Amino acid sequence: MTKRNLDERVAVVTGAASGIGRAIAQNLADKGCHLALVDVNEAGLEETRSTVARNDRRCTTHIADVSDKARMQALPDEVAAAHGQVHILVNNAGVSVGSFFADHSIEDAEWVIGVNLWGVVYGCKFFLPHLKQADWAQIVNISSLFGFFGMPGQACYSMTKAAVKALSEALWTELANTSVSVTSVHPGVIRVEMADKYGLDPDKVGRLVARAIERKQRRLIVGGDARAAHWFTRALPNGFHSMLTFAFRKANVTGMQS
Ligand SMILES: NC(=O)c1ccc[n+]([C@@H]2O[C@H](COP(=O)([O-])OP(=O)(O)OC[C@H]3O[C@@H](n4cnc5c(N)ncnc54)[C@H](O)[C@@H]3O)[C@@H](O)[C@H]2O)c1
Repeated sequence: MTKRNLDERVAVVTGAASGIGRAIAQNLADKGCHLALVDVNEAGLEETRSTVARNDRRCTTHIADVSDKARMQALPDEVAAAHGQVHILVNNAGVSVGSFFADHSIEDAEWVIGVNLWGVVYGCKFFLPHLKQADWAQIVNISSLFGFFGMPGQACYSMTKAAVKALSEALWTELANTSVSVTSVHPGVIRVEMADKYGLDPDKVGRLVARAIERKQRRLIVGGDARAAHWFTRALPNGFHSMLTFAFRKANVTGMQS
C-alpha cells in the first residue's frame, strides 16, 4: 500500500497542551502538517505552539473544552476559517480519576465521561461534514489499554475508553465508502509527567500515530503492556479478571468492598 503524504495537510489535535497531544502535534508538524491546537490550558497551548510551529506552516491555537457541545459545534467552522479545510482530527484530550467507583463522586464520573466520551463524540460528529469534503481524511481516537478491559480503580475511565474503541470500530464500516478513515489508538503506560517513573516516551506514540495516518491503520496498540492486555483479555476473558482480583486482594488495596 502506498503511504499517504501528510505534507500541507490540516490537522486538529485536542489536548495539545501537554503529554501525548503535544507529541502528536510535534510529529505531525515534522511531517509538514498545518496545525490547529485545541485545549483548555492556554499557557500549555502556547508552549506547544512555540515548540512545534514552523515558519513555513500555519499553527493556530483554540481554547475549547471538548465536553462543551456548543463550543465543539462552533470549532470546525473556526478551524476551517483559519485553514481553509480539515484533513486530520485527533481526539486526544482525556482525564482520569484514580479511585474506586464507590469512593469517587458522581461529579467526578460526569467529568471523566464528559471529556473522554462526549469530547470524542462531539469531535467526530461536528468535524465529519468538513472531513468528508477532503480528498482523504483521518479521524484518530485515543483510547487506552484500559479500552480492552475494566481496570479496578479506573472504572469510569475504562468505560469511556471502551466506548471510544466501539465508536471507532463502528465508524470503520459506516465510513467505509467515504474518504474518511478512522484509527483507534491504545497506548499502554506513557510517561507524560517529569515525575513519572514508568512508561514509554510520548514521542513514540506521536511517531506511531503519524505513521498510522500515513498507512490508514485501523488499530494502533502502543507498548508491551497494551499488547499483552489485548491478548490476555481475548484469550482469558474471565481468568484475566480473576487474576486482577487476586492481585488487588494480595496487595490489600484499600477501597475493595467486603
Ligand atoms: N499517559 C498515559 O499513560 C496514557 C495511556 C493511555 C491513554 N492515554 C490517553 O492519552 C490522552 C492524552 O493523555 P496524556 O497522558 O497526554 O495526559 P495529559 O494530562 O498530559 O494531557 C491531556 C491534555 O488534555 C487537556 N484537557 C483536559 N481536559 C480537557 C477538556 N475538557 N477540553 C480540552 N482539553 C482538555 C489537558 O489540558 C491536557 O493538555 C488521553 O486521552 C489519555 O486518556 C494516556
